[in-house]
Parts: sequence; C-alpha cells; structure tokens
Amino acid sequence: MGNIWSLDSWKNKPIEQQPKYENEAELSEVEAKLQSYPPLVFAGEARNLKKILAEVSEGKAFLLQGGDCAESFSEFHPDNIRDTFRVLLQMSVILMFGSSLPVVKIGRMAGQFAKPRSSATETQDGIDLPSYRGDIINSIEFNKNMRKPDPKRLIQAYLQSSSTLNLIRAFSQGGYSDLRRVHGWNLDFVSESRQGEKYKEIAERIAESLKFMESCGIKPENVPLLKQTDFYTSHEALLLGYEQALTRKDSTSGLWYGTSAHFLWIGDRTRQLDGAHVEFLSGLDNPIGIKVGPSMDPEELVKITDKLNPKNEPGRITLIVRMGAENIQKHLPKLIKKILVEGRNVVWVSDPMHGNTLKASNGYKTRKLDDIILEVENFFSCHSSEGTYPGGVHFEMTGQDVTECLGGDQEISEEDLSSRYHTFCDPRLNAKQALELSFLIADILKSNTKTDHSFTI
Ligand code: PEP
Ligand code: CO
Repeated sequence: MGNIWSLDSWKNKPIEQQPKYENEAELSEVEAKLQSYPPLVFAGEARNLKKILAEVSEGKAFLLQGGDCAESFSEFHPDNIRDTFRVLLQMSVILMFGSSLPVVKIGRMAGQFAKPRSSATETQDGIDLPSYRGDIINSIEFNKNMRKPDPKRLIQAYLQSSSTLNLIRAFSQGGYSDLRRVHGWNLDFVSESRQGEKYKEIAERIAESLKFMESCGIKPENVPLLKQTDFYTSHEALLLGYEQALTRKDSTSGLWYGTSAHFLWIGDRTRQLDGAHVEFLSGLDNPIGIKVGPSMDPEELVKITDKLNPKNEPGRITLIVRMGAENIQKHLPKLIKKILVEGRNVVWVSDPMHGNTLKASNGYKTRKLDDIILEVENFFSCHSSEGTYPGGVHFEMTGQDVTECLGGDQEISEEDLSSRYHTFCDPRLNAKQALELSFLIADILKSNTKTDHSFTI
C-alpha cells in the first residue's frame, strides 16, 4: 500500500545479513565515490539477457550459470579467470551438443564477493569474532582487526570486478572463444582424463562440421557468431549499499538498472517479501534470480515473484531451486504446480550445490558429487512430470584442479580434501567434476529432446 520505490526505499525495510561498519562517514564517502564511477555493464546488455531468458522460459534455450562461491582478492589472477571461463565454454559446448539448444552463459564472476552467513560470529579457541562475510566486507583471516568490516574493500571489489569483466569481454569477443579453438579449451590436467577424452571426441566432430560449413561458405569471417560468444555476469545482490551506488538510470528507457552485473539474484536468506532485498530489486529492470530453498511456501513464492515482476514479463524472474537431493521431490512439485496454475512466467534452474553441503569427518565443508547428480536428476524428473521446462543449472565450480567436493571419476575421498582445498566459502566442483556433470546433463537433455520429437512427429 502506497509504497513508492526509490533508490533507497530499501532502507525503510527490515534487512538481513548486513555488516555493521564502525565508521559510517567513511562508508558514505566510499559509496559516493562509487556512484561517480563508470557502470560495469550497460542497460542494453541486461535487456538482451532478459530477452534470451524469456526464450529459456519457453524451452528454446538452456541456461548455464557457474563460478566461484566467493571470489577473493588473494586469488585474483588472470589464469584463474581464464580457466573458469574456458571450463564454462567447454560445459556449454557439451550441453549444446546434447540438447541442440543454444546455451546462455552466465558467470558467478566479476562481482561475487558478498556472502550470507548462518551465524553472525565465529568461535575459534574460545575467541568470538564477526564471521567472514566475503572479501568486499572483511577478511577471512581470523584476527580482530581483519574481521572488521572495512568500507575501502568496496572500492577494491569494484576495481577487481572491472578488470575481471574486461578480461572476460576480451575472451568472449576477441578470438579466444572462436569455435575453431574448441580443442584448445581442454585444460592440461583434464586432457588425459575420461572427461577430457570424451570432450576431445565432441571437439573433433565440431571441427569436422566447421570444415564442412566452411566449404559451403559459412565461416567465422562472415558469421561472427562462430568466433565470439555472449557471456554475462551475475552475483548475489547482498550488500545493498554497494548495489545502490552502482545503480544508474538508463537514458534510453528512463528505467533503473543495477550496473554491477547483468543478472542479480536474491539469496535464500534474504528473500523476505517485505524485506529490503526484495524491495530494492523490485525497482531495477535487470533479470533477477530468486533462490528457492526447502522452506519456500508456494503462496509466498507467487507473492515474491509478483512484487518483483508485477507485469509478469517473461525473462525477468529465474527461480534457482536449491532443495537438496532428497528434499527436492518433496518440495518442488507443489511450487511448480502453483506457478503453473497462477500463470506466472519464470525460468526454472537447478542449483544442486547449496542443499547438499555437509561436514566431512575431518571437519571440511564438502559436497558429494553423487548428491549433486541426484538433485539434478530429480530436478529434471519433477519438470518432466509437471510438463514444465527445466531451464538450466547453477554450479559452484572452478577451472582449477581443487579437491573440495567428494567423489566423481577421480574418486576424491575425505582424506584427499586437504590436498587442494582452496575455496573461501563453499566447496566447488573442479574442472573434471564440472565436465562429468555436464556430460550427464547433456544425456538427460538428449533423451528429453528425443521424447519431445516422438510427440511432435
Ligand atoms: C550462494 O549461492 O552462494 C548462496 C549462499 O546460496 P543460497 O542463498 O541459496 O544459500
Ligand atoms: Co555458496
């Protein structure tokens, strides 16, 4: 009732998961500085992504979203950016090959810095300190000074996002993503594995098709799509002061856009209907994701989508389902049914990571690849039963050869976790596990396509 959105109307709403800054004047100064900085993305790009997501909602394209749980200042390195980017390219090739659908690529990159935490404090050896909330807020180092939220970190996060995005733009438009380089995307340590071998087979077939097409006159020189790709960025819009500072009014449309990334999502802990996060994002015109966990009620889901998308515009809302392998069949069907009955346009995406986190006996936070696979399979079968489109997948993954998730072809065990456990927050799939999962999803997509054809012939 009478709630008029403005850039800071979220400040009148209850808010979760925000840091408490000691020096508010310094924070305001930093936010003012960010307001004067250039936008990282442009309104037209966010509009394009929304159009493509509308296609995804109709089953005409498939969404692949992936990257770090939390980007960090210390792991900022061109090789890390390149390796995650190229595994995402490989995954998209595998998925396209399986589904014969265009694959929309969105990175959890160039801005994924702020983390919601289950506890406001962390205790080590009897000492209580504020929890680590992501490098944009404080340091992971367990030390009183370093755990204090520091406004200067917003600037560093912005600058790191900006140069990460610059490299991503170069990779996606400057030749690196040319389909003729499809072989070269195989990382050295992946190349000799079963996933690497399977990938080489696909790469071979693509190269052959390209040669054939070239002989027909269809070549990268006259069809630019063959030598470049569209790649979008995303992160959780958690730290609203930062997001507000990077919101700009688009001069063409007169609409407000969050310019810190193309796609912004609301986390499972901050999706309260009357809360600050839903309020803030309701006024932006970007495509928006909503994390949907086991406690989401169907009525509530419709109310949240309506507040964020009153015109029921296709492509505006992506529901990122993260229930857990076992829970998904219990909770997802009733949500799908409700959205269907109410006729709301959404993209359904599976995040099989966040409902499957567990503590290994040696204390490491980890996830089993088997649980991740089971959740994905259950996600697809729920949609197949309800007659709706499984629009995509959302992974925490990296191009590095880490040992953070259990299982897979490499059979990573609890004892192996300590060898290369590098994440700043949640355990990620390594490159081989990410490819393994992509082959599996490609197979499911292939069999779905076959079923569809058998009906339409
Ligand atoms: C995340 O995506 O890193 C995250 C914290 O997810 P969720 O809000 O679903 O727990
Ligand atoms: Co996470």
